[in-house]
Amino acid sequence: MISRNDLCWCGSGQKWKKCHYPQHEPSLSQPLAMRYMKQYGIILKTAEQIAKIRHACKITALILDELCQKAAAGVTTIELDELSRKLHKQHNAIPAPLNYGEPPYPKTICTSLNEVICHGIPSQRPLINGDILNIDVSCIVNGFFGDCSRMVAIGEISQEKQLVMDVSKECLNRAISVCRPGAQIWQIGEAIEDYASAKGCSVVNQYVGHGVGIAFHEPPEIPHHYNRLAIEMVPGMIFTIEPMINAGVREGIIDEIDHWTVRTKDGKPSAQWEHTLLITENQCEILTSLFA
Ligand code: MF3
Ligand code: CO
Repeated sequence: MISRNDLCWCGSGQKWKKCHYPQHEPSLSQPLAMRYMKQYGIILKTAEQIAKIRHACKITALILDELCQKAAAGVTTIELDELSRKLHKQHNAIPAPLNYGEPPYPKTICTSLNEVICHGIPSQRPLINGDILNIDVSCIVNGFFGDCSRMVAIGEISQEKQLVMDVSKECLNRAISVCRPGAQIWQIGEAIEDYASAKGCSVVNQYVGHGVGIAFHEPPEIPHHYNRLAIEMVPGMIFTIEPMINAGVREGIIDEIDHWTVRTKDGKPSAQWEHTLLITENQCEILTSLFA
């Protein structure tokens, strides 16, 4: 159990109380919320918080959709970042990645191409026929967070790239379908790794999904690989699922110059889809769905 004086789970090196300690303490009239905070550091959201996070997630999904529509051969990922800045302003949203972490992340979105697993930085390189691209958007709207990502194929892509695009999407869908009150967090990794390995793909285990809503990254971690995390899903939990699926080995290497871009060790393609989910009274709601 994390205590106020322990190091923050975000890796900042600061005490939890000085860093990501929740501003919104659960009320004493909610025993389950008290227990989840004490045992796991998980903030079960109130109805008011859920309404605000739902709104932030909706805007995040709209921005992501517009960016995906703009992605085409000849467009640079810097141009996608420029459009992202404009869309965030239009929606009164703040891009959560900008200046996030150490070294400060330099752009408003992540654009991860081909063998890049995650945290690709928008650049002057134009998209070309045969590319696969993940666009990851994380927004702050009125102080609340949403987080989602999707893949886009540019023109004709190889069978191997099509495979990781399809498998990662199906992994996310299968993982979502296990989410409901009473299910365990480890079942998410089981659903994902069972399917990915049956399709001959590997599951990245260096990066995980996460609680989200009041902060960008809250407890719990959501592993996408086989694990034993025995945390029961309960109504009011909000977290992301964002499986990164590789055609070859699971290992990633962080770029030594920018300290962000993560590439597959063997250079084979990787793909990722992400949603923010709310556990409801009897199932789950995809907060970053465009269609809800
Ligand atoms: N969805 C990614 C995450 O949850 C977004 C990363 S943004 C970055 O971490 F700034 F950390 F790169
Ligand atoms: Co995320």
